[in-house]
Amino acid sequence: MLAYRHLFHAGNFADVFKHAMLARLLVGLARKGTPFCYVDTHSGIGRYDLSHPWAHKNAEFREGIERVWMRTDAPEPFAPYLDRVRAFNPDGHLRFYPGSPCLARALLRPGDRMVLSELNKEDCARLHSLFEHDGTVTVRCMDGLQSLKAHLPPKERRGLVLVDSSFDRAGEYARLVEALVDAHRRFATGVYAIWYPLMAPAATRAFERRVFATGIRKVLRAELSVRPERWTGSLRGSAMLIVNPPFGFEREAHEMLAWLWPVLAKEGQGGQSVRWLVPE
Ligand SMILES: C[S@@+](CC[C@H](N)C(=O)[O-])C[C@H]1O[C@@H](n2cnc3c(N)ncnc32)[C@H](O)[C@@H]1O
Repeated sequence: MLAYRHLFHAGNFADVFKHAMLARLLVGLARKGTPFCYVDTHSGIGRYDLSHPWAHKNAEFREGIERVWMRTDAPEPFAPYLDRVRAFNPDGHLRFYPGSPCLARALLRPGDRMVLSELNKEDCARLHSLFEHDGTVTVRCMDGLQSLKAHLPPKERRGLVLVDSSFDRAGEYARLVEALVDAHRRFATGVYAIWYPLMAPAATRAFERRVFATGIRKVLRAELSVRPERWTGSLRGSAMLIVNPPFGFEREAHEMLAWLWPVLAKEGQGGQSVRWLVPE
């Protein structure tokens, strides 16, 4: 039984970080003319209605997308993300928030395709109904890390894999490392974006050391937190490891996070960074 439902968290500061990075990675892949495949291992329901009582329970979006979406001073690399969020809310009232599937779908070009996996049956059914008439999208109601075995390497030989686990099972960090090693062995040139929450610092460091020890090279680490490291309350921040980021992404990520952190961390806590966990 999966307890995690993303609607409680949709549009929060971690989503803004994750989705802004995701949009930029997709734009980076789209720079080359040849088609690519986007693979989303933990897809959720695709898009979120922020007027739903679950979204309002803690109203996390108020300290996330609500602070950002109408800003006119965001640096250019933010445009693909902010433009899509605005397109979801054309009347200027923030109600709908695109999850990774809808955001990615809006950034695919004709000829590109995407594969979505979601283990929660109810959520997967919603995802399926959203895309059932869209030949570009394959929806799999299964374990997302298992589905990588079936879908990598993609026939296009170009692709981005987003791994956005809900971390609601013990041993998840170890599973992620194992899945990354296996996926990278199948598809070494793929771009991989692995999101993770910053909770217990020791667990985070152990995960990163394990990724380092795999021998996989060209791993960029981006982080954005809005609370200090000793914070033990709600989520203090999150990070993303990006394997094989597209050319120019490192600079763009620096620019984006330098702008985003003071907007989201109003109290001036936490911080942001972009650095190589493993260089080329
Ligand atoms: C953080 S949410 C995903 C949000 C989504 N990626 C987005 O950005 O809009 C994590 C999702 O993973 C699903 N999930 C949990 N374990 C899974 C697994 N083993 N395989 C696939 N999905 C899983 C949960 O039901 C939840 O919907």
